[in-house]
Amino acid sequence: MPEFVGAVDQGTTSTRFMIFDHDGNEVARHQLEHEQIFPRSGWVEHDPVEIWERTNSTMQNAVRQGALSAADLAAIGITNQRETTVIWDPHTGQPHYNAIVWQDTRTDSIAAALEREHGELIRRKTGLPPATYFSGGKIKWILENVDGVRQAAENGRAVFGNTDAWVLWNLTGGPNGGIHATDVTNASRTMLMNLETLDWDDELLDIFGIPRAMLPAINPSSHPEAFGTTRTTRPLRTAVPITGVLGDQQAATVGQVCFRPGEAKNTYGTGNFLVLNTGTEIVRSRSGLLTTLAYQFGDEPAVYALEGSIAVTGSAVQWLRDQMHIISSSSEVEALARQAQDNGGIYFVPAFSGLFAPYWRSDARGAIVGLARFHTNAHLARATLEAICYQSRDVAEAMAQDSGVALDVLRVDGGVTANDLCMQIQADVLGVPVSRPVVAETTALGAAYAAGLATGFWQNTDELRSHWHESKRWEPQWSDEEREKGYAGWKKAVERSLDWVD
Ligand code: G3P
Repeated sequence: MPEFVGAVDQGTTSTRFMIFDHDGNEVARHQLEHEQIFPRSGWVEHDPVEIWERTNSTMQNAVRQGALSAADLAAIGITNQRETTVIWDPHTGQPHYNAIVWQDTRTDSIAAALEREHGELIRRKTGLPPATYFSGGKIKWILENVDGVRQAAENGRAVFGNTDAWVLWNLTGGPNGGIHATDVTNASRTMLMNLETLDWDDELLDIFGIPRAMLPAINPSSHPEAFGTTRTTRPLRTAVPITGVLGDQQAATVGQVCFRPGEAKNTYGTGNFLVLNTGTEIVRSRSGLLTTLAYQFGDEPAVYALEGSIAVTGSAVQWLRDQMHIISSSSEVEALARQAQDNGGIYFVPAFSGLFAPYWRSDARGAIVGLARFHTNAHLARATLEAICYQSRDVAEAMAQDSGVALDVLRVDGGVTANDLCMQIQADVLGVPVSRPVVAETTALGAAYAAGLATGFWQNTDELRSHWHESKRWEPQWSDEEREKGYAGWKKAVERSLDWVD
């Protein structure tokens, strides 16, 4: 019997393949970055072919590093950066255009028009506010702006997928019988899926001008057959069942075993995403959060969530590294920030893609306020870490308003949680303890869990729950007065970042 489950995690900056054993422990991993393409201010693209090549290499390398063979894998799960939009020709496998990334703001005017004409309808049907973030506007932009694509779509020569569907289609055979499918969590980020029917909504397809035939089949997130098996050529040369597909934030929710209504996690990646399980009930946000799918396992009813999506957190640290050159690796930000005792009165609002939850203001742009001659790189590094934490407080407040329940502990995961200072600031800014599990790679773990549940590798969610162990906890140290003063400064800084773009 195969003893392991694999997971592809196709993220915003890199792709990794991880292999887990029956106790949910990591046994192997390989990770490769891909190019971030910035053709103009506000535009962010990826090369889908590069992403597929990276997926191949990471799968092969992780299996090799674990001294395993593909036959040791009982199943594979796929998780992905959500919303990022790929349109390709299913006859050749060639993309019609680069992938338009979730952070890209080129669909600003499309989103504004949707808000004006159909804002209420879109919110009610999809749980999402019209915004540049989601896939629907990106598909519309490609159909309207890239020569020949609309015609190709009408002739069956252009299909859409987020990167889960792109990787799945290639892994299952590409032009030779690849499966064109996605899951409910990814579909819930397109602005095209009806939250109640879990199907593409004809009225919305009409509004966006998107032919249904371009879109993938929508499946549960965990299913024994719906996603097929890996093709018997590259990368694994073996037919391994693909039995789990879900968006990365939903995968992290599963990896953090947030299976009961009221359980929440916050993932610190390129952006931050706080997801609260609301059970089988669709909870409408009044405070700027998204209503989205958490997961659907097999024939069980779908589970919904409220989500606070923050566009720029870890990527603000990358900006300090790549554009400002004040650090040479992301991990250096902690030591630099520790050189400052506090933020010295400055705040950094990294609204590079406008502001997402709970503001949804595409007219916002980045601002550093409160500067004096006194300030140094160390203050800016500290203000960057604080920005990550204050943005998380903004969404935690919105969540408390919507659910009527304040968080008593925040479960965290993702790369930035290795930054001890940042996690301490998070506990201070929120006034609640912050808790990190032993396996901090909860995104890949969650995709593996979804895949393993479908094949019986794991029996049920109680078994998964027994794998979760805390590795570290940060307790709040600030006084209430310090906390509220700091937060008031942040809110003032946010005001300054608004109304920047006409
Ligand atoms: O919605 C975007 C999100 O799925 C991206 O996550 O971890 O790739 O930054 P990440």
